[in-house]
Amino acid sequence: MEDTLKQALPQSTWSEPGCAAFDFRGDVRTNPTLDMLNAMAHASLSDGVATSDPTTHELEAYLAKLTSHPAALFVLSGTMGNLVALRSLLTQPPYGILCDSRAHILASEAGGAFAFTGAIPRPVEPANGVYLTLEDIIPHIVLPDSATVHMCPTRVISLENPLRGMIMPLSETCRICDFAHEHGVLVHLDGARLWEVVSAGAGSLEEYCSLFDTVTMCFSKGLGASAGAIVVGGEAVIRHARWIRQSIGGSIRQPGPLSAAALVAVKKTFGAGLLKPTHEIAQEIATFWEGCGGTLKHPTQTNMVWLDFTGLSFGLRQMIDEASRRGIFISRDRLIVHYQICSEAVSTLKQLMADLTSGEEPGK
Ligand SMILES: Cc1ncc(COP(=O)(O)O)c(C=O)c1O
Repeated sequence: MEDTLKQALPQSTWSEPGCAAFDFRGDVRTNPTLDMLNAMAHASLSDGVATSDPTTHELEAYLAKLTSHPAALFVLSGTMGNLVALRSLLTQPPYGILCDSRAHILASEAGGAFAFTGAIPRPVEPANGVYLTLEDIIPHIVLPDSATVHMCPTRVISLENPLRGMIMPLSETCRICDFAHEHGVLVHLDGARLWEVVSAGAGSLEEYCSLFDTVTMCFSKGLGASAGAIVVGGEAVIRHARWIRQSIGGSIRQPGPLSAAALVAVKKTFGAGLLKPTHEIAQEIATFWEGCGGTLKHPTQTNMVWLDFTGLSFGLRQMIDEASRRGIFISRDRLIVHYQICSEAVSTLKQLMADLTSGEEPGK
């Protein structure tokens, strides 16, 4: 079928990664594939608002099983997933959400989760600069059984993994979730890229996800689908999440084609092991950058390389402009490697680094 599609659509934008092969701006730049298009063409086209669409049901059941949760809900984006999950976990105010001070829900979701819940954010900085530990959290958490009524009780801890491409180890995740649950606090995971954590060998989807009350995971980042995310959790919380999704206009009339593409993304990108090699390329780029005299803002543990220009004679702007002249795309100090990046793009990037840093003293 893929061959038939290739013949039918020789010039199609679905046939090749195209510009995505040279794009380090984000794993969201991955192109959906012909395989996905094929699955979309065979998806059910039932209504997903009033009833359960079969392909979407298949996706939800598959993800619930993979993560060891009783239920799952397809949503349009990671932002929607976090909002719907957090709104469904929080019931009676006053309530606060404790999260990493760099968390996506705090910094990059237009405040949605807080605006729609009225929750007070309690940002916490990780002492190790990589991931939150229980020791970071304890001084900032306001336990629901606290004697004082002055501070807002923490009803949910929202963790993010990976965060800026860095991994929260399973052991620390366990400690935090166990502590929270012992004290009647719920735990959400923004696992938009949890696939990367698992591909890095830090733990299985089941091991991580089963620790949380709700988890959001995205199909549209490194996995390559054009849209969609899943929220997994218990039956009651997911039933409630269905209402919340409807209340923000997130129910979809024919979700089947999007769900079908998402199933291919999970099975063929994540399932077939296409993410791990991107970590190796990211590490190769990070090591090369350091060898040229650059430093890194954060360690490279998955598919992200964070460039630090301190002490170099050129800055980010110059690098972006020169990259664009050479036909590769970067937009900030964060480079993301995804599975559609080609070897020519990696060589061009390394040559660019070498040329810009030539004359710099290595390790300076
Ligand atoms: C950690 C994290 N969570 C959530 C999101 C939101 O996903 P979306 O862009 O699908 O709304 C992103 C997006 O990049 C993200 O990086």
